[in-house]
Amino acid sequence: MHCKFFPAFVFVLAIAAQPLFSQQAPPTGSAGSSTPQTGTGPHARRPLPKPVNLKVLPKDISREDLIKLMRGYAGSLGVECNFCHAVNPQTHKLDFPSDAKEDKTTARTMIAMTHTINEQYMSQVHDPDAMPEDKHVTCGTCHRGHSMPEHFVPPPEHNHHPPEGAPPSEQPQ
Ligand code: HEC
Ligand code: HEC
Repeated sequence: MHCKFFPAFVFVLAIAAQPLFSQQAPPTGSAGSSTPQTGTGPHARRPLPKPVNLKVLPKDISREDLIKLMRGYAGSLGVECNFCHAVNPQTHKLDFPSDAKEDKTTARTMIAMTHTINEQYMSQVHDPDAMPEDKHVTCGTCHRGHSMPEHFVPPPEHNHHPPEGAPPSEQPQ
C-alpha cells in the first residue's frame, strides 16, 4: 500500500462519517470539554500514544483524524472498538497496536478495497445530480450498521421481468 492518496481519502471518510462523529464526544484536546482535563489528576485524559503499527493508513495521520476514522468504522459496522482490537490479558485494556484479532486484518483489507473502489472506479462516474456524499463508497455503504453486510434479495415481482433489452413498455407490440 502506498500512502500518497491518503489526505484526500481520509478527508472523504471524515466527511462521509460526519453525522456519526457529531454525536460523539469531541476528540481529546478539543476545546469542547466541559472541564479542563489537561492537568495531572487521576482522571485526566491522557493523549493516545503515537500509532506504531499502521500498515494501510498514513503513518503521519493526526491522532484526531485516526480516532475519527476509528469511530466511523465502529459506527458503520455497529460495533465497539473491541470488535477489531484485542484485549491485553495482563492489563485487561485494549491493545490497539496488536494484530491478534482476525477482524482487524479483515478491516485492513476492507480499507484498501474501499480506497480502490473510490480511486479507480467511482472517480470515473460523472453524475451531475450526485451530491458530494454520493460520490464515494464508504464502509457504511455496504455495512449499514452491521458487522456482516445484510443479504439483499430483490422483491419477487422484479424476478419476472423480460430479459434485458426487451422492456415491455418500450416494445411496439
Ligand atoms: C472495523 C475494525 C476496527 C474498529 C471497530 C476499530 N478499529 Fe482501530 N484500527 C483498525 C485497523 C485495521 C487499524 C490499523 C490500520 C492500519 O494498519 O493502517 C487500527 C488502528 C488503531 C489505532 C492505532 C494503533 C497503533 O498504534 O498502530 C488506534 C489507536 C485505534 N485503532 C483505536 C481505535 C478506537 C479508539 C476504536 C473505537 C472507537 C477503534 N480503533 C475501532 C480497525 C478498527
Ligand atoms: C463493497 C462493500 C463493502 C465495503 C465498502 C466494505 N465492506 Fe466490509 N465487508 C463486506 C462484505 C461482503 C463482508 C463479508 C465478507 C466475508 O465474510 O467473507 C465484509 C466483512 C467485513 C468485516 C468482517 C466482519 C465479520 O463479522 O467477519 C469487517 C471487520 C469489515 N468488513 C470492515 C469494513 C470496513 C472497516 C470498511 C470500510 C473501510 C468496510 N468493511 C467496507 C463488504 C464491504
